[in-house]
Amino acid sequence: MRILVTGGAGYIGSITVRHLLDRGHQITVLDSLERGRRGSVDGRAALEVGDVGDRPLLERLVAECDAVLHLAGLIDVAESQADPGRYFDVNVARPLALLRAMAARGAGRLVFSSTAAVYGVPDAVPITEDAPALPVNAYGASKLMFEQMIERFESAHGLRAIRLRYFNVAGAWPDGSLGEAHDPETHIIPRVLQAMKRGEDTFEVFGDDYPTPDGTCVRDYLHVQDLARAHALALERLGEGGEGGVFNLGNGRGFSNLEVVNTCASVTGRRVRVVMGPRRPGDPATLVASSERARGVLGWRPERDTLDLIVEEAWRWHQNRL
Ligand SMILES: NC(=O)c1ccc[n+]([C@@H]2O[C@H](COP(=O)([O-])OP(=O)(O)OC[C@H]3O[C@@H](n4cnc5c(N)ncnc54)[C@H](O)[C@@H]3O)[C@@H](O)[C@H]2O)c1
Repeated sequence: MRILVTGGAGYIGSITVRHLLDRGHQITVLDSLERGRRGSVDGRAALEVGDVGDRPLLERLVAECDAVLHLAGLIDVAESQADPGRYFDVNVARPLALLRAMAARGAGRLVFSSTAAVYGVPDAVPITEDAPALPVNAYGASKLMFEQMIERFESAHGLRAIRLRYFNVAGAWPDGSLGEAHDPETHIIPRVLQAMKRGEDTFEVFGDDYPTPDGTCVRDYLHVQDLARAHALALERLGEGGEGGVFNLGNGRGFSNLEVVNTCASVTGRRVRVVMGPRRPGDPATLVASSERARGVLGWRPERDTLDLIVEEAWRWHQNRL
């Protein structure tokens, strides 16, 4: 299959591109390189440096592919709260050009990277796809808006789409050659590993008075390699004429912030002293996915689902970056 991958120079994109190439697919990456890196794009893929809002460019690229994987976007929750307009521009307004280019060519097949942030503060865990989508930050709202646009294009133009709602993505390519490099980094595993790599004495955890076993927030960590495989299964399902829809992707198991710090210490053999800070506004106590639908319909199963393995491979990547 010829696949256009937007955002393919970023963390999840670069790893997914390599996985798809290994499965025999042909890949073109479209990335502005605003947050991604040219060096992360596998040499077997074609790279177009450009913006998802560039309609003539999108029309050419869409005409040359069989399916689109749309990962490009901005992902920092705090930044989205401070500057929501930027998030609605990059995550909603600009990629409308992608949907319109697809509609102009009779629509086609699309897999979209959505997020657990669309659920906001859930009433119950594990969270199923039927839970109300009530995002509590502009990032989650922007991803939900794009999902809603996709649904309109499905009914009006026959677009066939799968929306994947990822929980917390972590880990790296097993040999440590590709991994997570956000700047600034807001995700806990890379932040703890960076603190340990720099030999920092302390690490701040946001809140220890949540209704969880140790009082710190609980999250569902999904290995980026398992996520890459889910994208391939979604694209292949659409290619075989299967129905689209929305799927949660997570391990179905939660780990607290303190468990994450302790696992990082046992994997790296380095220690940081945990300092308890205040809660971050809008952080739900527990976010754990029900991925039953993805298991049943896509035939997907997480294979690299221990926190030790996720951290071990992330650490290899962080050490390689020294
Ligand atoms: N990392 C996570 O834990 C997580 C969780 C849920 C959902 N997601 C979603 O997965 C996707 C990828 O996330 P990531 O962690 O790899 O982020 P990332 O920042 O590493 O990658 C995003 C890529 O998109 C590119 N990009 C941004 N704006 C662009 C534009 N206008 N035109 C073209 N390219 C543009 C950036 O340069 C970057 O390479 C995002 O859509 C995000 O919402 C990520």
